[in-house]
Amino acid sequence: MTTTNDASPIDSRVDELIAQMTPAEKAGQLTQYFYFGSFMGSSDAEPGSIESAMAQLPEMVEGSVTAGGATSLLFVTHPAEINRLQRLAVEDSRLGIPLLFGFDVIHGLRTILPVPIAMAASWDPETIELGQSMAAREARAVGIHWTFAPMVDIARDPRWGRIVEGAGEDPYLGAAVASAQVRGFQGEQIGAPEHVIAGPKHFAGYGAALGGRDYDEVNLSDAELWNVYLPPFKAAIDAGAGNVMTAYMDLNGVPASGNSWLFTDVLRTTWGFDGFVVSDANAVRSLVTQGFAADLADAAARGVNAGVDIEMSMFDPAYGRLPEALESGAVLAEALDASVRRVLAAKFAMGLFDTPYVEEDRAREVLADPAHREVARVAAERSAVMLRNEDGLLPLDPGDLKSIAVIGPLADSKRDTLGPWVFDFDLDETVSVFEGIRGRVGSGVQVEFAPGVARTQRLHPSPFDRMDGYAADDPDDFDDDAEMARAVGLARSADVAIVVLGEWQNQIGELASRSSLELPGRQLELLQAVVETGTQVVLLVMNGRPLDLRWAAEHVPAILDIWYPGTRGGEAVANLLFGDVSPGGKLPFTWPRTVGQVPMIYSHTRSQDPDNQAHRYWNEDGTPLFPFGHGLSYGHFEYTNLAIDRPVSTTQDTVTVSVDVTNTANREADEVVQLYIHQRYGSASRPGRELKGFQRVTLSAGESRPLRFLLGPDERRYWSAAVRDWVTDASTFDVWVGGDSTAPLSTTFEVTDS
Ligand code: NOJ
Repeated sequence: MTTTNDASPIDSRVDELIAQMTPAEKAGQLTQYFYFGSFMGSSDAEPGSIESAMAQLPEMVEGSVTAGGATSLLFVTHPAEINRLQRLAVEDSRLGIPLLFGFDVIHGLRTILPVPIAMAASWDPETIELGQSMAAREARAVGIHWTFAPMVDIARDPRWGRIVEGAGEDPYLGAAVASAQVRGFQGEQIGAPEHVIAGPKHFAGYGAALGGRDYDEVNLSDAELWNVYLPPFKAAIDAGAGNVMTAYMDLNGVPASGNSWLFTDVLRTTWGFDGFVVSDANAVRSLVTQGFAADLADAAARGVNAGVDIEMSMFDPAYGRLPEALESGAVLAEALDASVRRVLAAKFAMGLFDTPYVEEDRAREVLADPAHREVARVAAERSAVMLRNEDGLLPLDPGDLKSIAVIGPLADSKRDTLGPWVFDFDLDETVSVFEGIRGRVGSGVQVEFAPGVARTQRLHPSPFDRMDGYAADDPDDFDDDAEMARAVGLARSADVAIVVLGEWQNQIGELASRSSLELPGRQLELLQAVVETGTQVVLLVMNGRPLDLRWAAEHVPAILDIWYPGTRGGEAVANLLFGDVSPGGKLPFTWPRTVGQVPMIYSHTRSQDPDNQAHRYWNEDGTPLFPFGHGLSYGHFEYTNLAIDRPVSTTQDTVTVSVDVTNTANREADEVVQLYIHQRYGSASRPGRELKGFQRVTLSAGESRPLRFLLGPDERRYWSAAVRDWVTDASTFDVWVGGDSTAPLSTTFEVTDS
């Protein structure tokens, strides 16, 4: 190995290495393999089956590593294993180029944060940044260098299971959340100690899959792409993200993973991205399946030529054909070298040539750091959204209660409390809702639990279940009628029933799209029977997408959306229920009444009879069940004195919006103050309301706080389909400030050309 401890600049060290590489070694530096160890496969499996192929995977991958045929592995999380595999690359391969270890650190590695949609619901970039820096610290400690996160896909169709991984429907909130996550994961710059490379994904448009069906094609207008789907990516790149991942599906008729407009024109040329691009898993091979590439060599050429540097692969990577594509001229040597250069530069920046190994003792210490659990608890408290609270039922006072019934199939399920997209969690450290409540109220209050109904099977099993051993309740061991009767009996004799319902964690996420939004299984029936007892009911919703809560929104006085709240979720939920902290989260998506309304967004443009949204369907109210930005609090907030410093200004100017917010309640609470605008006329029509500012503030009892927001050319700029370019129009603008997207308090200002 010629490069260790070399102090010369990265560029020349990279060039020196490239000069020594064969075409096959270059292809190897562009190939990433899954490494599942043995747990996914079985050596007894039928030859030719996927299980039998998986059983051979470790040997095949290790052979590639020593042959210089692999640049990176994903899915290894044990430090000793990472060191063992790294040694194969550093000591046994010809050039000794270290491996990058990548992993889906989506919402925590060992300490699990609330799911990403929940973190977005905090509307709190500081909490989000802190959470992801804790996740990065754990990841880096075990030897992971790179996370396939954040997922910054805008999601406007809750049937799509991956809505849980993103920040919801809005580009402005999405951009703020994206950059906070990148800062948290990566720190000041790539290679910062205790941080990892961030890889925003999936570029681009994946959230708009037809019908919400995972991986289905996407057709988006240029205006939607530039104004809605691309801004969170741009924000992630501006925050310094070192990597970007491709998307599986076709975007406007061209597979995203072979789409040079996306990776070359937009990402590199227009935005100046100088990091490396990875394909989604097997997505380069898939260029053949998608009817784009003729064969795997063609797929490899199209991938590299589009700007996709690394192929993420399970078996038989298309990039194995790159030497062939080079020889035929389908790929130019300069293009191949440019990709290799970007990958090696990342390895140098991460310090891998100098420090390829990880300290196993230190990993244990970092994973055990109690401060991480506190970060997770606070994040769960800050992300919960109180949807309803009739007559101030919440917070509960434990002094008024002798008994609490905790009911529902998710109430004491630790695994479900963590949510999807986690693999390395520790159930012993996880606090379920039932445990959290019991721990909070102490022995003076009797707290009992009954699941009431079973967690049912999915129609099609999830491949992720095999990875973490998740199983539905066995119908043979679970007598639904008897369990329902027991739960209802418990509720009847309790002072309050806390009912925890939602989707099981394997019903949301990748490969977990749904054609309905109803509560799975017999959960609604259970809720109705519990309400029927006359006992006061609090509903806690465990979810990553809006569910059909029409019945609950009329009949259950208090509803708190707790999402999948993570390792310390149960404790956080108890602190919210009993008023130690006030809920302050707000919905990052519009909550429809029923699946028939989707996609439904708050920022639609105005058209015929715009103020009659309720009548958009004849069979159902056309308004949402809860609007975007909605979330109640134990505080009570009043907005007054909304003003603009300059009623008339020019397209280049920035105006200041001011407002006073007062907490008229007798306790401290948080409010997310939101600012929306509407451009009344211009070169194209603009949404009736668009979020253009927010601030989460903590106000003590009776406190009044003046707040300011700036509205400049950046906030008013948009991509106009009429001009086919970015414009900043002269116009009249409406401004609303308040606690959700229906805020009534408004004013206007004029913008002139000069
Ligand atoms: C496929 C998913 O689409 C992507 O988000 C993920 O990072 C990779 N698999 C690796 O697990």
